[in-house]
Amino acid sequence: MPNELIFTVDDDPQIRELLKIWLEEKGYKVADFESGEDCLKALEKDPIAIVLDLMMPGIGGLETLEKIQKSDQDIPVIMATSIDNAETAVKAIKMGAYDYIVKPFDETRLLTTLGKAIEQCSLKRKVHRLEEELRQGTNPQGIIGKSKALDGLLTKARKVENSKASVLILGESGTGKELLACAIHQNSPYSKGLFVDINCGAIPETLQESELFGHKKGAFTGATESRIGKLELANGGTLFLDEVAEMNLETQTKFLRFLQERNFERVGDNQKIKVDTRVIAATNKNLKTEVEEGRFREDLYYRLAVFPVEIPPLRERVEDIPLLCLHFLEKHKDELNKDVPSFTPGAMAALKKYQWPGNIRQLENAIYQAMIINETGAIDLDCLPEEVFQEVPAVIVSPLNDLNVKNNDIPVTESSVSKEGSPIIPYEIVLEQTLRNALAATGGNVLQAAKELGLGKSTVYRMLKKYNLQ
Ligand SMILES: Nc1ncnc2c1ncn2[C@@H]1O[C@H](COP(=O)(O)OP(=O)(O)OP(=O)(O)O)[C@@H](O)[C@H]1O
Ligand SMILES: [Mg+2]
Repeated sequence: MPNELIFTVDDDPQIRELLKIWLEEKGYKVADFESGEDCLKALEKDPIAIVLDLMMPGIGGLETLEKIQKSDQDIPVIMATSIDNAETAVKAIKMGAYDYIVKPFDETRLLTTLGKAIEQCSLKRKVHRLEEELRQGTNPQGIIGKSKALDGLLTKARKVENSKASVLILGESGTGKELLACAIHQNSPYSKGLFVDINCGAIPETLQESELFGHKKGAFTGATESRIGKLELANGGTLFLDEVAEMNLETQTKFLRFLQERNFERVGDNQKIKVDTRVIAATNKNLKTEVEEGRFREDLYYRLAVFPVEIPPLRERVEDIPLLCLHFLEKHKDELNKDVPSFTPGAMAALKKYQWPGNIRQLENAIYQAMIINETGAIDLDCLPEEVFQEVPAVIVSPLNDLNVKNNDIPVTESSVSKEGSPIIPYEIVLEQTLRNALAATGGNVLQAAKELGLGKSTVYRMLKKYNLQ
């Protein structure tokens, strides 16, 4: 791999020089050190491998190795040793060195060993990165809500956690499908392995197969190196097939075979690879319709939907909205450096009334934006996005009976008369008239009017502007 940094550590300048020539010829960058101490001081440069002499003055090879390992950077170390020191070299391997090579060096052997060490190290780093993402992004207790609908769903999910059964999560966009998939993984027998996510909708159709199954070098134009696929990475863990309806038919066929036989081949290879992984699939499409219309294999559908769960949209679990809102205030407070206490009753009423087509993701974005706009105190209506603000329920503005609306102000049509015979007043007129009344009653005192209407002053200013009442 060109341009990767390798450290060489040896007290003999001639050996350092020789290694430098060989490695630079192969395109590596080289930093050489004459002692273990110097090498340790430079570790933050993040080398991809270290060739370390065993016998050196000062702290010596074994102690240097021990300290490199304590630095916790997953750097493979290859010990360089003379023939009569093989016993110590074995000790080094036991301590965690990747391998050892005997002096005088054989160039080919050195380069092969180094190549393998680097490949292993890159994979380890990738795994650690994924694990870190997982730790930060998920938490089994992170599913907020106490509605009956959510509770029923979680009870159902808990039943499947301990099994190896495939799970199909259905639900509109932003309802928490991925969050639920992570929670199932974390409470499952596969929790020690990785949670590997593959978003079928985000990968071009031609690359889906290789992304999932990996490929052998030269399998297709552009496959300049062999690569392991997500399925292999998920061995011992969970494979999350997101937007599974977007998987192309060819990949569906190959994946079905994997589910039946539990082994597969990388693209361009005929070696069978066995993988033990839990499969969780998710989609916001109606997968049955996809089957009926020939875009999704029926047999795969039944394999994936061994245990289907459907997450209800947010508008069907309004009781969860206040909890979620507070959760998002807490979640973003450090990042935004804003400790917003809560919401005004008007704002909360609007948040509960809005239909949230983008579900929890849209709610989270709305709260995030509101936190940015909000200056002091609780979040009020005027901090909410326009479409949510429009949902302010009339009942919190003023009771209809108090309205002094002249009958000829109201465009009454047949359909605008309720069953009881009282006219249905267009919402905008109610709002405007309520505001006019409040201003009239307080002699135009905006602050007083806002207080009596139970609204924040900025909301009232915004309404004044909207109805040209300034
Ligand atoms: N019950 C919940 N409690 C807390 N946060 C939630 C909950 N449900 C969803 N979220 C948050 O809402 C956002 C969207 O959730 P997620 O990505 O899991 O949805 P999704 O259904 O996979 O969406 P899409 O279909 O768009 O991929 C995430 O930030 C997630 O953490
Ligand atoms: Mg998702």
